[in-house]
Amino acid sequence: MIIRPARGLRGHLRVPGDKSISHRAAILAALCEGATRVSNYSTSADCASTLRCLERLGVRVRREGATVEIEGAGRRLPRAPAHALDCGNSGTTMRLLAGVLAGQNFPATLTGDDSLRSRPMRRVIEPLELMGARVASDGGRAPLTVAGRAPLSAVEYAMPVASAQVKSCVLLAGLNAEGRTAVVEHHGATRDHTERLLRWFGVEVETGDAGRAPSVALVGGQPLTARGVEVPGDISAAAFFLVAAALVAGSELRVEGVGLNPTRAQILGALGALGADVGVENEAELSNEPRGDVRVRGSRALAPGRRGANLLGGAQIAGLIDELPVLAVAGTQVEGGLEIRDAAELRVKETDRVRAVCENLRAMGAAVEEYEDGLRVEGRTRLRGARVRSFGDHRIAMAFAVAALVAEGETEIEDAECVAVSFPEFFGLLESVVER
Ligand code: S3P
Repeated sequence: MIIRPARGLRGHLRVPGDKSISHRAAILAALCEGATRVSNYSTSADCASTLRCLERLGVRVRREGATVEIEGAGRRLPRAPAHALDCGNSGTTMRLLAGVLAGQNFPATLTGDDSLRSRPMRRVIEPLELMGARVASDGGRAPLTVAGRAPLSAVEYAMPVASAQVKSCVLLAGLNAEGRTAVVEHHGATRDHTERLLRWFGVEVETGDAGRAPSVALVGGQPLTARGVEVPGDISAAAFFLVAAALVAGSELRVEGVGLNPTRAQILGALGALGADVGVENEAELSNEPRGDVRVRGSRALAPGRRGANLLGGAQIAGLIDELPVLAVAGTQVEGGLEIRDAAELRVKETDRVRAVCENLRAMGAAVEEYEDGLRVEGRTRLRGARVRSFGDHRIAMAFAVAALVAEGETEIEDAECVAVSFPEFFGLLESVVER
């Protein structure tokens, strides 16, 4: 894919339905009593993987574009799959389904592509085994064979890393456990879509503070009652447009109907703190998730409005995790640059995103320092168009499409078709709002 510099991004657009919420809507709808219609379901390849796996487990799914109807099977799924369940590139599919499978009466195997089979899975194996399931793996990596037990035993689990996928896995297993299952988030609060959707389907979920760390708990055995879900636009997809518009002077862009859940919308505050002109309009709540329109005006040089804005770290990281690659790109244009710390989790995403961002930014002429847990970029850099790699990672491809818009000359992104993992419409939508 060749991307040339932009003079502005103008107009308005909608991005596909939120990927995290779509996975959860499909999985929870499968566990409901009754049929659920999910509107604005994510068009991503990842969320298609989740639907395919559910079908292999005997759940009836009908899909027409972005509308998906799921016939709930109740908390105990109909049948053992005939073959291994292919989660493709999707960590969320694998880790959440592991939690569902742990409470079933049959064994099932979860596998995925080369990237997914290289990612750490002990983080879900450990709590599921504590609850009484047995999980065979390839040295802590997929394929995972989950030998479920019904019922499981409830646990109180202190999360070793900040991960919404691990939290959700344990809560989903907890639905089929005897007693109260609790998760304590010692490393910072992660996205809470599972908790919100569980409540939407009638499950009582307690949230609180366990010695200053956020905690969430539920009592097993509660039924889920089917009810329509409207998925908001994916703020992690919108982020690429918001950052691009903020960095290109003369831009004036509105992204409509975007999810504004506070555990996901930290990107707006982070951009504002870096000096971007970002605002929210038409806020509403649907299916227990806040949403609204986000508008951005571009400026040539971003200057942070307060001290400390040039450093992202600590408990902030969980709320920005998927936006860090594109924020690093933004950092090259900000007065004072940007340092990202406490983000070692970036190294175990679809690719090692610290390494990928550093390598590509250097290829474009940026001054970058790489740390074990993050990176630092110099600000006010004139990026040069270059040949960069996606590393097969959708967010790396899109982050560097944004870099290309503010660079001098052409940028070629190798293997750019991987954007379909989360956002198949990305390049088409980008061309529809870019002025050259
Ligand atoms: C996700 C959680 C995050 C995020 C991923 C989606 C989710 O992963 O990076 O894109 O839907 O729960 P971790 O839970 O591994 O941090």
